[in-house]
Amino acid sequence: MARHEAGRNDGGMSTGAYAAAYEQSISDPNAFWGEAASAIEWITPPTTVLDDSNPPFYRWFTGGTLNTCFNALDRHVRDGRGEQVAVYYHSPVTDTKTSLTYAELLDQVARFAGALAGLGVEKGDRVLIYMPMVPEAMIAMLACARLGAIHSVVFGGFAPAELSARIEDATPKVVVSASCGIEPSRTIAYKPMLDGGLDRSEHKPESVIVLQRPQLEAEVGQRDTDWEEMTWDEVMADAEPTDCVEVAATDPLYILYTSGTTGRPKGIVRDNGGHAVALRWSMANIYDVQPGEVWFTASDVGWVVGHSYIVYAPLLTGATTVMYEGKPVGTPDASAFWRIISDYGAVAMFTAPTAYRAIKREDPDGKLLAGQDISTMRNLFLAGERLDPDTYHWADNLLDCAVVDNWWQTETGWPIAANLRGLDPMPIKPGSPSVRVPGYDVQILDEYGTPLPAGQEGAIAIKLPLPPGTLPTLWQDDERYVSGYLSVFDGYYLTGDGGLIDEDGYVFVMGRTDDVLNVAGHRLSTGSIEAALAGHPAVAECAVIGVADDFKGQIPRGLVVLKGGYDATSDGERIVKELVQRVRDEVGAVASLKQVDIVAALPKTRSGKILRKTMREIADGKVPTIPGTIEDASVLDALAATLTNTQH
Ligand code: COA
Ligand code: AMP
Repeated sequence: MARHEAGRNDGGMSTGAYAAAYEQSISDPNAFWGEAASAIEWITPPTTVLDDSNPPFYRWFTGGTLNTCFNALDRHVRDGRGEQVAVYYHSPVTDTKTSLTYAELLDQVARFAGALAGLGVEKGDRVLIYMPMVPEAMIAMLACARLGAIHSVVFGGFAPAELSARIEDATPKVVVSASCGIEPSRTIAYKPMLDGGLDRSEHKPESVIVLQRPQLEAEVGQRDTDWEEMTWDEVMADAEPTDCVEVAATDPLYILYTSGTTGRPKGIVRDNGGHAVALRWSMANIYDVQPGEVWFTASDVGWVVGHSYIVYAPLLTGATTVMYEGKPVGTPDASAFWRIISDYGAVAMFTAPTAYRAIKREDPDGKLLAGQDISTMRNLFLAGERLDPDTYHWADNLLDCAVVDNWWQTETGWPIAANLRGLDPMPIKPGSPSVRVPGYDVQILDEYGTPLPAGQEGAIAIKLPLPPGTLPTLWQDDERYVSGYLSVFDGYYLTGDGGLIDEDGYVFVMGRTDDVLNVAGHRLSTGSIEAALAGHPAVAECAVIGVADDFKGQIPRGLVVLKGGYDATSDGERIVKELVQRVRDEVGAVASLKQVDIVAALPKTRSGKILRKTMREIADGKVPTIPGTIEDASVLDALAATLTNTQH
């Protein structure tokens, strides 16, 4: 069935278009990105393409002004796309299917922007959005873009501790939320979670807007708070549409917090100009989606994939996007994706490999494909975690389209390595997201920062400058940007992933070299989960490690040492239950922490650093790296049996 076999050029012989584009993007970025920028409508065209006057802080399109919302909506309505569907909303969990045309979406966005402006939101102000997968989430994001306000979307699966960390850092003037989110197994009340997050934060917003959903309404305005609370309908009732505000290309469009190794999330800043140019370029050249075509990304607006490929890239392109509130399986069954592709005629879809592993588990022979016409689909794109060859082969055998891995991060906002389906499709090698995307000078470095030859594994780094659309810095923390990403290897951005580039220029990403977790395509921090565990009165110290899991890619495991006075035999079961619940309540169920083991001691170096990597290697059945600086090697021996007993 599959047309696309490993080692064969399934898109015809390379025209060399990729090689030429890549070469130009590195040797003459001004010409390359200057040309790409012509796809965006500027109010004032940029005076400089790459501004390298203040390394390592590189900026793109300085002098240029634009409005991202104008490019995503107004310009398409002006140019005759008003009646085209901008977004299909497909929500099996509420049994809803609706759509908004570009003209309708523009109207809603302009009115919500008016409502926000009425609450005092101005250019540069932050607006925190904590919403499930409803069109209003997208409307709120675009309304912020319209005003030049900076949105910060928090994934709906996060609980108060994660929320308050983001509220403290982003200091939003307004928070936009909803009364509930709907998981197949339960309805999740958002308001108590939001109240919990706000109560813990020193920073308080001026206003909170809550979208009431009929499945579970929230009590709005009934608490005695320092801020005004109102419903979405109330603010929209008398809102006047507002026009686009002119912003600099270098002004921030949004902040998206992502997990590092500590409990304090990193505020990734995305600017307006570089973002619009890069995403528009990626839609045509990587994802091969043209204006007017339908594109389906199954992710969540709380993650970067949702920001870039549910909201901004398809709309900047004048394509139609699908907003899906449901799961790959169980809502109602494993044919959910096929139905959407068939109903809307999507030319491509994008999701995380875990979603396809879920479908494979439920319907290994693909029987549910019968009767669904998915012949419109040219490409299936998978990202967010490693695409294991098994899942690749399963999907490739099942579908008559290319199965395309692409590798990137919240920090970059769009792919670092991909098979450029629109520019120059290439042979696919299972296990590799293919080649370096134009703009990214990816190098494999050894521990001294020396580039390694083809085939040798090392740290994956990107030579500065990073291309447009990638993070210029962290929100109000230039120092952490430099120390976290740029200081290990001079002149390079450190991705945190390890891997290699083979003789054909294919990048292979082996996984994180730090303690960042990737659970079902969700990036989580060991530090946040550890903070939740450490907050339990019985815990003296703890460690969280990510261990390999066939379904979710990775799952966290907790190891805790109890304080004196607590007895593992008599109190252990109760404490473990409380710890699992604590992580759900503080971080969110999405952390998927199910196994916590009580241990006598944790292995450490003489300077007190917990050896998470060594424990991870033992749990994964690998030969462990035991540093010479280990304080007491017998601790590891005592832990071996516990670590190899993964309960999943
Ligand atoms: N709001 C509240 N809770 C949420 C949530 C949300 N937005 N998303 C997930 N959760 C909860 C789930 O209900 C689950 O709760 P439970 O422990 O009570 O069952 C828990 O968090 C773990 O969720 P998840 O890891 O997503 O597992 P799952 O079994 O519910 O679903 C998949 C597994 C594979 C179907 C799902 O993870 C998936 O579709 N992932 C890939 C797509 C994706 O979103 N990737 C993001 C980047 S592309
Ligand atoms: P996030 O910031 O949530 O997008 O997570 C980024 C991390 O996910 C990367 O640093 C990788 O570790 C992992 N990742 C994302 N896409 C891929 C991929 N295609 N292959 C391997 N790992 C990936």
